[in-house]
Order: sequence, then C-alpha cells, then structure tokens
Amino acid sequence: MSDRAVSPVTVAEQWKAANLAPLWDSMIAHKDDVALKQATLWPWAQVRPLLEHAMWMTNPDVVERRVLSMRDPSNVSPLDESTVNTLQAAFQVLLPGESARPHRHSMNAIRFVLEGEGAVTVVDGKRCPMQVGDLILTPGWCWHEHEHLGDQPIIWLDVLDVPLHQYFGTVRFQRGPAKALPATLEDEAFGRAHFLPDVEWSSAHSPLFRYSMADAVSALQAIPYQHGIRRVRYVNPLDGRGVMPMLDCYLVELTEGAELRVTRSTSNALCAVVEGTGTSTIGERTIQWRKNDVFTVPQNNWVRHTVASGIARFMMVSDKDMLARLGLLEEETNS
Ligand SMILES: [Fe+2]
Repeated sequence: MSDRAVSPVTVAEQWKAANLAPLWDSMIAHKDDVALKQATLWPWAQVRPLLEHAMWMTNPDVVERRVLSMRDPSNVSPLDESTVNTLQAAFQVLLPGESARPHRHSMNAIRFVLEGEGAVTVVDGKRCPMQVGDLILTPGWCWHEHEHLGDQPIIWLDVLDVPLHQYFGTVRFQRGPAKALPATLEDEAFGRAHFLPDVEWSSAHSPLFRYSMADAVSALQAIPYQHGIRRVRYVNPLDGRGVMPMLDCYLVELTEGAELRVTRSTSNALCAVVEGTGTSTIGERTIQWRKNDVFTVPQNNWVRHTVASGIARFMMVSDKDMLARLGLLEEETNS
C-alpha cells in the first residue's frame, strides 16, 4: 500500500535513489519551442595565419594528422567536439614532402581542398589527386593516407560524422599499415555518364572517391537557376543518393540581385565558400563571407543567402540524406 503521508521531498529523494525522475519536471519534455543553435563563422583571413603556427609547431609523424578542429562555441561539455550537431569539421595542413600515415576509422569523412595542390590521398589503394575545390571521400573503414608531392603547403577542410558515431557507440579506429585492401575499380569505371560497370557491387558508399571541382562546375552550368540559385548534388553513381550514408554534399551557386528565398530545414549543414562574396542571415545571426570562409547552418534556423556581386559558390556538406532516409527531413520555404 502506498503511504500518502510521506512528504514530497522524501518521495523525490526515493525516486532519485531509484534512478527515477518525474517527466513533469523535465526541462525538455512536452515543450514545443526547440532551442536553436547559432551559426558560427571561421573567416579565412583569421584562420589562415593561425594555421601557420601549426605548420612549425608539429608534424604528422608526431601527431598523426596536423589538424585544427572547428568547435561550436556553444558546446557545453569539453567532450563535445562537434562543429554543428551531427558534423565535426577541421582544417588539415600538409607541408611539401610530408605524409600522413595510413589509418582507418568507422567515421565517414570528406576532404575539400581550400589551398595548394600536388597532394594525393590514397583511399583503399586508389590514388586521388588533390586540387583546389576537389572533394575526396574517405568512407568509413576505408584505409586512407595523405602524401604531399607539391612545393607549397596544402590545406583542406575535413568534415566527418563523428558526433553520430559517438551517439551510436560505433567509433572505431585502427592504425596502419593498410592490409587486406578490398577490391576496387578505378574512378573512371564509375565516372562516365550513362554507363556503369556490369559487375556485382555492394557498399554503403560511393565507389567514386574523387569528385573534381571542374566536373562539379560543369554539371552546375548545365542547369538553370531557380529563384537565383542552382545546385548540384555529389552522388553515389550506383543509386543516385548521397555519397556516403551520413554525409551529403552539394555545390551551390548564387546570383547577384536574384530573388533569394528564405528556407528552413531540419538538417544541419556546413558551407565552405569557393568563390564570391555575400551575406547569409541564419536565424538571428548575419554573416559576411568570402572565399575559403567556412560557416555552419544549424538545423531549424531560417536561412537567406545574398550575393554581393556577380556569382558566388559554396560547397555544402550536410546530414540531409540521412534524415531523409529516417523520415525526419522537413524543409520549408517562406518566399
Ligand atoms: Fe582519418
């Protein structure tokens, strides 16, 4: 029988001791106002000189990868290294003659080259040259290493789905040397429009590991603008979906003076400016951006992009495809 004479304080203590909590006291349950995260900007003019320090302070032989992570300043826990809820991004630098030894991990990653040329990322034995604007995939559990054969530093943007793996408890990491490489076909085998190899092929990610900026721009230029924007998606040629299960990439072009709409999405995104200058209003924050600036677009914020002059392009990486597959992607336009 229950004892109704017991004090509420005692009841609360008993519940706590039994690892129970009343839902009616919850800070988050039954609330319809979702807290929005603010956008963050990493201006290249500020970041580039700071990367110089990392160039002389250390090297990949010592620290595995010369990387400066990009942290959302609103992260509360020091263990939360995310850049935006589901994505973790960083700047990585390799100097001429350096190499970053092979390893692999369960996290999927993209590399997007911001400055320099002459480096190669080797993914499951396939050599992917890195030029400015190229997107290189290192899908989960693929062996990858980097080597720099050029004569100037190369800097690229890394974006990984680390926060999702931390949540799922699926973080795995293995040092090289690479061994038991899976069978691969050259990118050329999958890179011809209208044709695919007539072979059995099964993997969760695209069999293409390198998407050149030249190809992306040429695809972009073949489509018309809609409301001042045109956009192409980097896809897995085998199924037309995102390049990897939890990372979905786009090249976006904006035009000057076009009527640009305000949009909102349940997806999170991170944008790297390829060319042009402009302004993005993301929720309550307005960001001025230019070439090589990187900014986040946290979910559920209203977003409006405008261009200062001419055209502007940015590469966007998001969790959109994953949310779509889970039935959680909602997108709205307020024009
Ligand atoms: Fe890695």
